[in-house]
Amino acid sequence: MWPTAELHIHIEGTIESDLLVRLARRNDIALPTYDPDELTARYVFADLQSFLDIHYSNLTVLRTEQDFYELGLGYLNRAAQAGVRRAEIFFDPQTHVGNGVPFADVIGGLSAAIAEGERTLGVSADLLLSFLRDRGPEAAEEIFRTAMPFRDKFIGVALDSTEVGYPPSLFTDVYAMAAAEGLHRVAHAGEEGGPDYVREALDLLGVERIDHGNRALEDPELVARLRDERIPLTVCPLSNVALRTAPADLSEHPLRTMLDEGLVVSINSDDPAYFGGYIDENFRAVTEALGLTRGQQATLAYNSFESAFLEPGVRQVYL
Ligand code: ADE
Ligand code: ZN
Repeated sequence: MWPTAELHIHIEGTIESDLLVRLARRNDIALPTYDPDELTARYVFADLQSFLDIHYSNLTVLRTEQDFYELGLGYLNRAAQAGVRRAEIFFDPQTHVGNGVPFADVIGGLSAAIAEGERTLGVSADLLLSFLRDRGPEAAEEIFRTAMPFRDKFIGVALDSTEVGYPPSLFTDVYAMAAAEGLHRVAHAGEEGGPDYVREALDLLGVERIDHGNRALEDPELVARLRDERIPLTVCPLSNVALRTAPADLSEHPLRTMLDEGLVVSINSDDPAYFGGYIDENFRAVTEALGLTRGQQATLAYNSFESAFLEPGVRQVYL
């Protein structure tokens, strides 16, 4: 197992079915079934939206600061077992605030989990506040203002949820606000949206990494730019198969081309409770399916630390 950084992980997507059931019972929230295996068996998706519909519906079980603490620490425990030394974790506060949970409870529980994970597991972690693109730019600016009193508790902003129809250009203002605050910037692009979404994220939002980026491969000029500027792509192989954004046969995954093109790609798990594997399982699956050499595996692990938001002196310790 390689030591690695995980840079594309939605904390809400780590809610395993047994935790889901426990929280539903504790908070008196109705679920279609209280059998964790039956819940997991329903996780068959046609595309990104069909996943998001179930994902957002499940998240109504998260009500208290303690719930967020348990969610966060559960992930960090599993990540530590998978060799993760550094995690940069998305959270979607608009979902929770919309469900009536105060922002302070969301970030309070997650921050306490991160402090505990650093102390007891030796995993360094930070939060990235993710905007839900399908709620539009004004809602993004509103949650950003809500988050500002907690500016010291997250290191950057991100953009996720339904991609097609919600291009990065809609979010130029809120990303400029984030830049003015000295926050890091990343965005999902090229998962279902085309290469123009990747270009917009780079040119209009000033992102430092692209989350997914698979469809950038359709544009050779863009591929050359990603390579020359060493712009990282955080790739999620099992997610791509589960959401049908890559061929069902993992041996045809675009990771092979990305590596051959010399792109700075890393392996990540996205929403592991739904897509059949944490980062170690993603790593193992692509290694086997693509027949990756030890050199290629090492490159993927190295890239993850190169792509992480670490101070230069700290990064050297990992590299
Ligand atoms: N939210 C959680 N997982 C996501 C993904 N893979 N793409 C977009 N939004 C998401
Ligand atoms: Zn994602």
